[in-house]
Amino acid sequence: SDQSAFETDVWTLTRFVIETGRQAKGATGELTQLINAMLTAIKAISSAVRKAGLAHLHGLAGAVNVTGDDVKKLDVLSNDLVINMLQASYSTCCMVSEENKELIVTPKEKRGKYVVCFDPLDGSSNIDCLASIGTIFAIYKRISEGEPTDKDALQQGNNIVCAGYALYGSATLVALSTGAGVNFFTLDPAVGEFILTERSVKIKPKGKIYSLNEGYAKYFHPSINEYLKHKKYPEDGSSPYGARYVGSMVSDIHRTIAYGGIFMYPANEKSPKGKLRLLYECNPIAFIIEQAGGLATSGTQRILDVQPESLHQRVPFVVGSPDDVNEYLSFVKKFS
Ligand code: AHM
Ligand code: MG
Repeated sequence: SDQSAFETDVWTLTRFVIETGRQAKGATGELTQLINAMLTAIKAISSAVRKAGLAHLHGLAGAVNVTGDDVKKLDVLSNDLVINMLQASYSTCCMVSEENKELIVTPKEKRGKYVVCFDPLDGSSNIDCLASIGTIFAIYKRISEGEPTDKDALQQGNNIVCAGYALYGSATLVALSTGAGVNFFTLDPAVGEFILTERSVKIKPKGKIYSLNEGYAKYFHPSINEYLKHKKYPEDGSSPYGARYVGSMVSDIHRTIAYGGIFMYPANEKSPKGKLRLLYECNPIAFIIEQAGGLATSGTQRILDVQPESLHQRVPFVVGSPDDVNEYLSFVKKFS
């Protein structure tokens, strides 16, 4: 039979990571090990997410499974997977997770030189309606010696060594950057590997979509509402922007990178620093967006320049196509 459509020399994500690791001077393979462990966790989460959909349709979620055990909640399960896989890779010294209040310190005998900040399952309010959710992570080198402390995790996004996100959408996709552009990999479930599907991804200079939770308009700063008015009723004869908002950041960000446009979670009177967390939501996404040629700002500062002060701090977040973000910044200026 004809097997010609079967690729025999594919670039899997594992191969890509090994190859870039080999090319790096003085590399020990520790980062390669770490990224591979993260990918294993992501594959397991992807499988659990798909099964949860099935369980939901059969009315099993949140109940007990057939063996009588409590079904572990998907976000708890995802968090356990990431922590266990990363600790078993002997490449981390500590981690920050959205699910854990305190710094997670790796047992002494399993320590390595990296720090990982992650959100194991972002957008979890979307689980029960089967909308897309994701995993986000950023990797840093530790900066202290001896016992790991919060200080190791409180680094500027500028120090990121590698960042990425996984989107559990109509397919499972990983976007990854080690500081030399962004690549997309799509999971081939038959092989159990991520296959390189888009190299050196670049965001459009300007898009046609704006994305935010406009339900908070009553509490927004006038600069935001003026900007939104300009998107909906342009005075220069151009067409109004389309509106899209999943409410699951990885989906909204992935669309922004794929189609262009702007995503925002600004401050509002009720949440003076917005909602999104600097260490494991905004920094990794800002790194990826910049690597794709876009911009990421708090409105007053480049996100990657923000000096973190606490593990779970929030920051206003505006990202996307450079022209769109700059246009938003011109409204900030007008009102300051
Ligand atoms: P979560 O970490 O509790 O899932 O919350 C983060 C999510 C993001 O994915 C999304 O951008 C945002 O919350 C949506 O918030 P809102 O419902 O206020 O629009
Ligand atoms: Mg989150």
